[in-house]
Amino acid sequence: MSFIECAGLGHRYESALGQSNQALSAVSLSIQAGEFVCLLGPSGCGKTTLLNLLAGFLSPSEGQLSVGGLPVRGPSPQRGVVFQDYSLFPWLTVADNVAFGLRMKGLSAAQCSTVVASHLALVGLESAARRYPFELSGGMKQRVAIARALAPDPDVLLMDEPFAALDAMTRGSLQEQLLQIHESQGKTVVFVTHNIGEAILLGTRILVLSPNPGRVVEDLKVDLPRPRRRTSTQFNALYEHLTELIGFETVD
Ligand SMILES: Nc1ncnc2c1ncn2[C@@H]1O[C@H](COP(=O)(O)OP(=O)(O)O)[C@@H](O)[C@H]1O
Ligand SMILES: [Mg+2]
Repeated sequence: MSFIECAGLGHRYESALGQSNQALSAVSLSIQAGEFVCLLGPSGCGKTTLLNLLAGFLSPSEGQLSVGGLPVRGPSPQRGVVFQDYSLFPWLTVADNVAFGLRMKGLSAAQCSTVVASHLALVGLESAARRYPFELSGGMKQRVAIARALAPDPDVLLMDEPFAALDAMTRGSLQEQLLQIHESQGKTVVFVTHNIGEAILLGTRILVLSPNPGRVVEDLKVDLPRPRRRTSTQFNALYEHLTELIGFETVD
């Protein structure tokens, strides 16, 4: 059995007025431990819905879903989540934000501070430990969010358009950091993006989703050598293919 298994997975949102919206339908896929999977598709194709099902924030309307051999029944510290809007706790310092999941896990104060220090070092934020979120740039906030998600040592990192709100230069540097973390820690990553270039730059595999209802329309293994260059012929060939599949260009 693969690390993540979805079989006939679907999700329907029901509104208070009795309307129903089939956001995701018949998604069957297997993800092996250590893969870096990008979920790529236009707005409204169900990327966030699929990620929230994996996180355990939503329950499937149809089908089955397991992570690490166990059915997903709710959120778990084994699944770290990073959102587009950072979602840091504004009343906690950077160090206390990163410590949050560790306290939930019952680590002692001494154990917490060791793990916090190592994870702030991982994202290059040792010197910001005592600052508050409002004192940080967007890129720094997202590095705190990544450190917070990784600190409890989850099996998988689930990321929902984490770099979409950042300027291109900051995005590039966080993409590099994330690749280094993936290489050094070997964690499974499921990364949502609507940006074709970002998916090709990061993924070992790209799942393309299409809307109405949200479903997987292509499953592509990306075996381009790293570092990947946007100017390479292979990169551009893949870019063209994905643009055709999605039906329009995305702005990088
Ligand atoms: N809470 C909700 N209630 C009703 N419909 C929703 C809700 N969240 C998302 N949807 C709908 O589900 C579909 C997929 O949304 P979403 O998973 O957010 O897509 P994406 O992340 O790819 O933009 C869209 O049609 C969207 O309008
Ligand atoms: Mg979304």
